[in-house]
Amino acid sequence: MPLEFRCATTDFSKESVDLLAVGVFAGEAVTTTYPVDTLDKAMGGVLAEFIAQQEFTGKKDQTLEVDTLGRLAARRLLLVGLGEPKEISSAVYRTFAARAGRNANGAKAKSLALVLPSKIQADDARALAEGVVLGAYRFTKYLTGDRLPKAELAHATVFTSGKTDKLKSAMNLGARIAKSICITRDLVNEPPNELTPIVLASHAQQIAKQHGLDCKVFDRKALERKGMKLLLAVGQGSVNEPRLVHLTYKPAKPSKKKLVWVGKGITFDSGGICIKPAAGMGDMKSDMAGAANVIGLMACVAEIAPDVEVHGIIATAENMLDGNAYRPGDIFGSLDGKTVEIINTDAEGRLVLADALAYARALNPSVLVCNATLTGACVVALGQHCSGFFTAQEELAAKFNKAAADSGEQFWRLPLLEDMREQLKSDVADLKHTGDRWGGSISAALFLTEFVGDTPFIHCDIAGPALAEKPYSFYSKGGTGHGVLAFLRFVETF
Ligand code: BES
Ligand code: MN
Ligand code: ZN
Repeated sequence: MPLEFRCATTDFSKESVDLLAVGVFAGEAVTTTYPVDTLDKAMGGVLAEFIAQQEFTGKKDQTLEVDTLGRLAARRLLLVGLGEPKEISSAVYRTFAARAGRNANGAKAKSLALVLPSKIQADDARALAEGVVLGAYRFTKYLTGDRLPKAELAHATVFTSGKTDKLKSAMNLGARIAKSICITRDLVNEPPNELTPIVLASHAQQIAKQHGLDCKVFDRKALERKGMKLLLAVGQGSVNEPRLVHLTYKPAKPSKKKLVWVGKGITFDSGGICIKPAAGMGDMKSDMAGAANVIGLMACVAEIAPDVEVHGIIATAENMLDGNAYRPGDIFGSLDGKTVEIINTDAEGRLVLADALAYARALNPSVLVCNATLTGACVVALGQHCSGFFTAQEELAAKFNKAAADSGEQFWRLPLLEDMREQLKSDVADLKHTGDRWGGSISAALFLTEFVGDTPFIHCDIAGPALAEKPYSFYSKGGTGHGVLAFLRFVETF
């Protein structure tokens, strides 16, 4: 059953619901301030005692969950700290709602109510709905019997005051956006035996159809005809053929502005002949997260219907090793025309992206944005909860930083150090595709810039946050969809 959102202006302390989630601002007097004061009164004073005992102060992300034992119409009560009132934002509301959604699953709740300490705007209502859906997300497709969840969240009510029409439609939009991000998560969570490049391409086609987007898929023959030799090279060691997918959103009124997104879609990265160590290799099913982000983003774009043209390109292949696999020392041409000497077959991402970027560049974008689980070095630099991004244009960097910050997603700019470009010089071809070990994210980014000409360009290395070991913020365990909200914000404010 789909999750339904409602807005209510009645007394929340009388709401009979499985989980009542209450946002609380930080302060000395949480128990005598709305909304905790109302709850404490309804519960006959025991709540204030408990809050004091547990030292709950409303500090950001602090939580307190109790069974109400019949003292409230609600079965369980969850208090969530929102931090300082002056720092409240849609992003804070989103993580609050995500915590509520996650705990609703834990409480086997079918109904959830959200209570806020102050008046909210449409953007906040949208973020609340996004948070609930993203927080309650679970990947259960391959579970059977007892392992399946016992209950599913079906109703979520947001308590507000005043007019609710605008809030209600903003919540519905938020729910649709979050569901689009769940498409990304589902794709990332799919096992690599099921999600091959061909299957990924057909998912893209199906999602495009559902959302009224245009979709073109280039099969192996078409890739050969076009001359996408690098994408073909990476895929040649697998029985699962590579594909290039091109999704298009066109606004009702033709626009001169055109945003083009490119995603890395390696459905499994064994490393190829330069094979990876066994430990953790299974995580490399998520090496198509950039492509999954592009698909989720395009679904979001269809929901928002912005007045700019938006394209999504994904280059998908499986990096495997058989007797036909590409090898170190090989030289290949590319769609762009430049020749590339292969150094390490585990640096496959930049190769498939090189051809995708050359294809994307021909669309003449206002801005071209690449996103990829590209380098382990980026995870070493920024950790698992932050993506790196590169651009040579200061103005674009500022715009992108703003979009990421507003969306509550962590991105940090890394430098395109021009003196490192020397590392990509080859004696026998136009380019080598890897440089030194040091600064590996930078040399990877520099390699990509060889294929975009003077198109305004941003490259995002999402290797760290694409997959999560455990849930945090509004991200689920496994595929997170990290990046989609920031990218959507960039589109909406462009
Ligand atoms: N898909 C990996 C990067 C990666 C590592 C993503 C860890 C997520 C988590 C990429 O294809 C890769 O193997 N990169 C190599 C490049 C090296 C051979 C130059 C790396 O980072 O070690
Ligand atoms: Mn690799
Ligand atoms: Zn890879």
